[in-house]
Amino acid sequence: MSRYLIAVLAGDGIGPEVMREALGTLTLVGKMFSHSFNTEKALAGGEAIDKVGKPLPEETLTLCKEAAAILFGAVGGPQWDDLPPGKRPEQALLRLRSEFALFINLRPIKIYKSLLPVSPLKEKVIREGVDILIVRELTGGIYFGRPRGITSLPNGTIKAVNTLFYTEKEIERIARAAFNFSLDRTCKLTSVDKANVLESSQLWREVVKRVSKDYPQVKLNHLYIDNCAMQLIRDPHQFDVIVIGNIFGDILSDEASMLTGSIGMLASASLGKGRIGLFEPVHGSAPDIAGKNKANPVGMIMSVSLMLRYGLGLVEEARAVEKAVERVLEKGYRTDDLKQRGKKLVGTREMGQLVRKELRDEG
Ligand code: IPM
Ligand code: MG
Repeated sequence: MSRYLIAVLAGDGIGPEVMREALGTLTLVGKMFSHSFNTEKALAGGEAIDKVGKPLPEETLTLCKEAAAILFGAVGGPQWDDLPPGKRPEQALLRLRSEFALFINLRPIKIYKSLLPVSPLKEKVIREGVDILIVRELTGGIYFGRPRGITSLPNGTIKAVNTLFYTEKEIERIARAAFNFSLDRTCKLTSVDKANVLESSQLWREVVKRVSKDYPQVKLNHLYIDNCAMQLIRDPHQFDVIVIGNIFGDILSDEASMLTGSIGMLASASLGKGRIGLFEPVHGSAPDIAGKNKANPVGMIMSVSLMLRYGLGLVEEARAVEKAVERVLEKGYRTDDLKQRGKKLVGTREMGQLVRKELRDEG
């Protein structure tokens, strides 16, 4: 029996309730496939600020260092909105990304057949669905660039600064990762930048072109971020793998998520060179619906599936989870974010139970 220590940071808002369903799924996968998943919870985000005064306590970091993978829920909420960026709940996530050098962020944007009517795009645009993999650079760019901060000029004017830079090495390693993912898909890669305005993007484009020489099978094209944002809605079928910098990727992946009908469905994997990965839903802490049994747990459950596949190399187990989710949707069960006339509306807990039932029936 293989044993895995999983660090569980449920965080704030709907984090704990979607995590509960994800852990239920993980425990069942363990039973069915004879693995022992030892899940250990730790504080992160706003809850950690309230209890111990910082968003990522040392104990949490120590646990993560020992773990085989990190499952992350969501952080943030209105009660911490007035804190400066460096002290906010989001720091927990940013520090983990940088501490473990998780420079690759995978955001698969896939629409389930049964959810086609939920997509806000017209049928003639969405057609039989979309299947895009966003590969976002996660530990560089304006999120981490220095100098940063708020200062006063000698004349008293207040000035705020952030810095966007990329080194060749940072671009090269994310580009290679994206090309490698392309090889496993349809060998089509779109690199996104703002090379008509920004030097950091000019370098981005040059390096991506250089790396492409090692991947002659992959068809590469370049788009400016503004054009790409428009193309994604006009004709999403032109995309397969997208490689993109940190802040552009943050924005574009939220936009892309809506193609699938709800951001509540999507999961992400943050990976680096090391063995540890962090797996989290793309959605945030949604404080407005927290504790109401209303949140869609699928994004968190699919994060478990990404953890199984990319974090622990358990591909068959990952597939079983994906299939179970697909079958629940095919049977017409919907959480509030996917509300559809004639379909069965269920809460967070019920959705989790339904996924586990399908998983059991499959096994
Ligand atoms: C995301 C989130 C984070 C980001 C926040 C919570 C720091 O929006 O993962 O997309 O900006 O990267
Ligand atoms: Mg975001």
